[in-house]
Amino acid sequence: MKKKFLSAFVATMMTMVFLCGCGAATAGEADNGGEASKETLIVGTNAAFPPFEYVGDDGKPDGFDIALIKAIGEEIGVEVQIQDMEFDSLVSSIGNKIDVAIAGMTVTEERKNMVDFSDPYYEAVQAVVIPKGAAIATADDLKNKKIGVQLGTTGEFIADEIEGAEVSAYNKAVDAVNDLNNGRVDCVIVDKNPAEVFGAQFADQVEVVAGENFDFEPENYAIALPKGDEDLAVKINTALKKFKDNGTYDSLVKQYIEE
Ligand code: ARG
Repeated sequence: MKKKFLSAFVATMMTMVFLCGCGAATAGEADNGGEASKETLIVGTNAAFPPFEYVGDDGKPDGFDIALIKAIGEEIGVEVQIQDMEFDSLVSSIGNKIDVAIAGMTVTEERKNMVDFSDPYYEAVQAVVIPKGAAIATADDLKNKKIGVQLGTTGEFIADEIEGAEVSAYNKAVDAVNDLNNGRVDCVIVDKNPAEVFGAQFADQVEVVAGENFDFEPENYAIALPKGDEDLAVKINTALKKFKDNGTYDSLVKQYIEE
């Protein structure tokens, strides 16, 4: 009788320990069926910026940045979950809706007031998309023009400084290009790699002009991180460095950017 009571007691205790153990799993840990559960890294992006991020044929975000952050996730042992959102809300969503952001995002002093950045992973520059044959070739030609940009991007910040420019900001860069094709804007200022993708996509209507005539400053893309999270920054920077050293980075460039 006593023994029976004892084993019932032990069984009850074990059940309690088991239940408590489960309840203690913190939010953010994913259950991946039996394996040690990995922490989830929620990564914000704006998947309308080819070749860095776009929605693939399977309806899922793809592109250089997506492949890069997935490789980093693998390397540092976290489960990457991509969250597609407006570019303009990425920075303010870090630390609440998302953990980090990768979105061809240029390091700027303004943004550094709100977030930290990883080491830069890509050097970029702005370009100008114009209707085929339009007479826009230098910084002077941009004055007093109707300029389309993506909302909250460095392209917008540059356009805002151009004398007499009438700037229209769109949620997606491609919408600005569509309005260029409709004649609602005279040109679009957008990062060079996506500009070239749009240039190829609308090859009959537009062309891309880039280069020193516009005196656009070089820009650096980096991953935006929560302010002060040294631990995460070190992990991500270490992974980035490893990928630059071991060829992973170059093969992603070949696959997504130079293809
Ligand atoms: N490099 C520019 C910036 O940081 C544009 C980035 C836009 N990225 C995107 N995924 N829509 O402002």
